Amino acid sequence: MSGGPILVFDSGVGGLSVVAALRRHLPGSALTYACDNAMLPYGLREDDWLVARILRVCEAAVAASRCVTLVVACNTASTLALDVLRERLSVPVVGTVPAIKPAAAASRSGHFGLLATSATVSRPYTLGLIDAFAAHCRVTRVAADGLVREAERWLAGEPPDPAVIRQALAPLWEDPELDTVVLGCTHFPLLRGFLAAAAPRQIEWIDSSEAIARRTAQMTSGVAPWHGPGESLVTAPDTRLTAGLARFGFAEPHLLVLD
Ligand code: DGL
Repeated sequence: MSGGPILVFDSGVGGLSVVAALRRHLPGSALTYACDNAMLPYGLREDDWLVARILRVCEAAVAASRCVTLVVACNTASTLALDVLRERLSVPVVGTVPAIKPAAAASRSGHFGLLATSATVSRPYTLGLIDAFAAHCRVTRVAADGLVREAERWLAGEPPDPAVIRQALAPLWEDPELDTVVLGCTHFPLLRGFLAAAAPRQIEWIDSSEAIARRTAQMTSGVAPWHGPGESLVTAPDTRLTAGLARFGFAEPHLLVLD
């Protein structure tokens, strides 16, 4: 008997960068996508409000999708709400947190950057990762909330604004020794080509999507087989999402009803 899909959740289209890795690791598995686009961006919101909101949307999306596993494809949500989601939901939860450990191993100079939302760059969870895995490194943390909108625009078919990208990345280039950048927001790998083109030198860009996909493949069982476009759920109707979701194998989105 087949079970349910794997549910991938983000505030917006960023989780599609994780979907791409999941498709590679679990090519025959049904995926459902859910995003809280009504409340995007998450990175500038208050923690208490955000925990309650993430829980409410994930509870509704888990129930609506009948998923077997939830992948929280959002660093801003995962660095804050993983414990409460694991406590309250009846399905296993895989989180996405900044790839600090691989970056510390990859950086030859010992100086790497963390590019993420305002919330993620300052969370105790993130600082704990840096202490645990990169205490011997210099880590330049850069909040780049403006890039979230640029990734949303790009997925909607509009080119991102090069001035916004240049400005967001500028603090990374102050030290010529910095050689590696962690993309600690799932929206940012969608802009990887633009980010690389805006860099003044060769940089290693590292994100968590492959590790998330491997972890999901290890811990998920009973997934329904993939039969054509997966379901997608949104919290606000927006026709600009349709084409981007379709490129990643999802059907026309429909509205997620919240209790
Ligand atoms: N994609 C989300 C992340 O990985 C954040 C985007 C937002 O600020 O809503 O952090």
